[in-house]
Amino acid sequence: MVVFLFYSPAMQNNTPSRDTFSGKFGIIAAAAGSAIGLGNIWRFPYVLGENGGGAFLLVYLLFVIMIGVPVMISELLIGRKAQLNVFGAFKKLAPGKPWYLIGVMGVGAAFLILAFYAVVAGWTLQYVYFSVTNALDGNTPAQMIQVFEGVQATKGWSVFWTLLFMIGTAYIVSSGIEKGIEKYTKILMPLLVLIILILDVRAVTLDGAMEGLNFLFNPDFSKLNSDVILEALGQAFFSLSIGMGVIVTYGSYIKKNESLGSTALSVSLADTLIAVLAGVAIFPAAFAFGMAPNQGPGLVFITLPNIFNQMTGGYIFGLLFFMLLSIAALTSSISLLEVVVAYFTEELKLRRKQATWIAAGIMSLLAILCAFSDSTFGAFDYISSNILLPVGGFLVVVFVGWIMEKNSPRLEIEADGRKARYYKGFQFVIKFLAPIAIALVFLNGLGWI
Ligand code: PHE
Repeated sequence: MVVFLFYSPAMQNNTPSRDTFSGKFGIIAAAAGSAIGLGNIWRFPYVLGENGGGAFLLVYLLFVIMIGVPVMISELLIGRKAQLNVFGAFKKLAPGKPWYLIGVMGVGAAFLILAFYAVVAGWTLQYVYFSVTNALDGNTPAQMIQVFEGVQATKGWSVFWTLLFMIGTAYIVSSGIEKGIEKYTKILMPLLVLIILILDVRAVTLDGAMEGLNFLFNPDFSKLNSDVILEALGQAFFSLSIGMGVIVTYGSYIKKNESLGSTALSVSLADTLIAVLAGVAIFPAAFAFGMAPNQGPGLVFITLPNIFNQMTGGYIFGLLFFMLLSIAALTSSISLLEVVVAYFTEELKLRRKQATWIAAGIMSLLAILCAFSDSTFGAFDYISSNILLPVGGFLVVVFVGWIMEKNSPRLEIEADGRKARYYKGFQFVIKFLAPIAIALVFLNGLGWI
């Protein structure tokens, strides 16, 4: 979800305006807005389900804390120090050096991510439609699987809903009304959490729910291998929206008197909590209804409607759930498109409207490819999450740890006037631990070492 403006709404020239967040809740709501989306509720459970469950969760949590939070602090401080978008920021902080290529990579990642993200968001919209028409009522678990397979197989409708979603995203970005959306998301996202909590209660009280909780929380370390570990790293980056410049740009809008450390911590906590809560609804349901946890990308769509069928008020909960999930997806997709638009307007000097529709047009073509070809879908997902984002994150921590002037990260972090007592630990992590860990996991996962 979203967010703030990269430009003021009325902006017609190419000078970025430096809006700032109004206060603590605004910043966290905005950054959490980008972070919380399909990554938590659709991608996290399905990737965890395919990678053996509990052991994946542990490694994932470890990566969020040891790598995710430090990378997020690093991105925030780069943005706030430079007061610029991701390209401008690296150009300004390392003049004449090629570090701005991190930004170019981030733009590439945004294209790939939004391409498959829009397809999944399209499925979500279709499930809103099914909920409105009560089409899933009374379906058996086997029929739920058939419905999802039908959704995937009916290309025409997939493309229709995907394009509808892209148009909505582009419309909001082109007219610069993210700030209006943010007002609503502050109410709507807590509502989404509330509904997930209610689903959790229903899911864990189903017969056979224990098996699902076991799968999620009981680590079976024999399931760990280099692929699983790389998937966990990729999921951490994807879910936190790090490694591609979204957070750098957020950082540029944060006032000097705000604490970057606690912002990064709160956003990461909220993001992780929602992913785990989604897991607590999905796995007990999957096991209770006799569905395999490694169903792949359809997991959330085939498990949750079974719960709605088994609860009082299921019609309204199902409808609200899919509507709110669509909005969470929309606000994340806006932040993705915005990265590209910022690049097109500032670096290629396009006008905002032009930039938005050109970017959205190319993304729509890529999205159609994803809707038609599962292997393209899978490849875009894999390349962005498991390659581009970790490489981006690696470069970011190396930049802050080794390239920036010695004291400047600390000065930026402590610009709020409070001493960052964690600074020594942070410095150790970004200089050594995080880059070494990312490099090892990455090279090992790709089979290079
Ligand atoms: N973090 C978002 C989600 O979980 C997806 C995203 C990834 C958004 C990268 C921006 C950048 O849905």
